[in-house]
Amino acid sequence: MDVAVETVSGPIKLPRVGSDNVDFLQRLNSAVFPVKYSFQFYKQILAGETIGRLAVLDPPFTASRAAMSSGSSAPECVGAIVARRQPYDFTQSYKGNFNTADSDDMYIYRSRLEFQHRCQNEMYVMTLGVLPQYRHLRIATTLLDRLISDFSQIYGIHQVSLHMQTNNSVALAFYLRYGFKIVKTVPGYYKNIDPPDAYILTLTL
Ligand SMILES: CC(C)(COP(=O)(O)OP(=O)(O)OC[C@H]1O[C@@H](n2cnc3c(N)ncnc32)[C@H](O)[C@@H]1OP(=O)(O)O)[C@@H](O)C(=O)NCCC(=O)NCCS
Repeated sequence: MDVAVETVSGPIKLPRVGSDNVDFLQRLNSAVFPVKYSFQFYKQILAGETIGRLAVLDPPFTASRAAMSSGSSAPECVGAIVARRQPYDFTQSYKGNFNTADSDDMYIYRSRLEFQHRCQNEMYVMTLGVLPQYRHLRIATTLLDRLISDFSQIYGIHQVSLHMQTNNSVALAFYLRYGFKIVKTVPGYYKNIDPPDAYILTLTL
């Protein structure tokens, strides 16, 4: 379902990613991130294993900004977020290869925890990006607010977590401002980008 909210800059819609608009997410990710996301990444969204939302702006707002970029006045996907549900503290505690961890790994991990943690979930942010010409408009904040609300309603999450490259000062400023804290540094987390080190950030709800 589309959700219309007001940002400081105008109306923005936040549709769930599905088969009718997954191509918008692919284009957005290609424009924002240095790595190419796999077919599997998009398949997981369509299978409902992960949840994504897009930020779509309508004209006339896009008309003025688009004059600087594409020249189009059509509705434009300017940002997106994708996240998955995990057992609580999975991001911090899992000792295996996090990038290839699947639902079986999560099940085993969960079954080893104390009872109070067995039923708790966290939301893990896989991607969050906004096109350069639409930054500083609270679009990422709006997307993150909305997805936390989705996960709270659907799964009853207690925490939000993510990995981020240690040199990404813009994203770090964004997440710290939102209320996240750095809880761990993981050397060599990323395989094909430099620096390979990651911070784990968490937000307690
Ligand atoms: C990080 C990112 C998603 C932020 O998107 P955004 O829509 O510009 O963020 P917001 O407008 O919601 O920012 C909210 C607050 O975060 C902080 N912030 C955002 N960008 C910042 C920057 N370049 N420098 C310092 N602080 C910044 C500010 O405190 C800002 O509030 P303010 O504008 O009132 O000062 C965007 O820069 C981006 O897509 N970066 C590339 C992709 C990426 O690194 N993603 C994160 C890892 S998955």
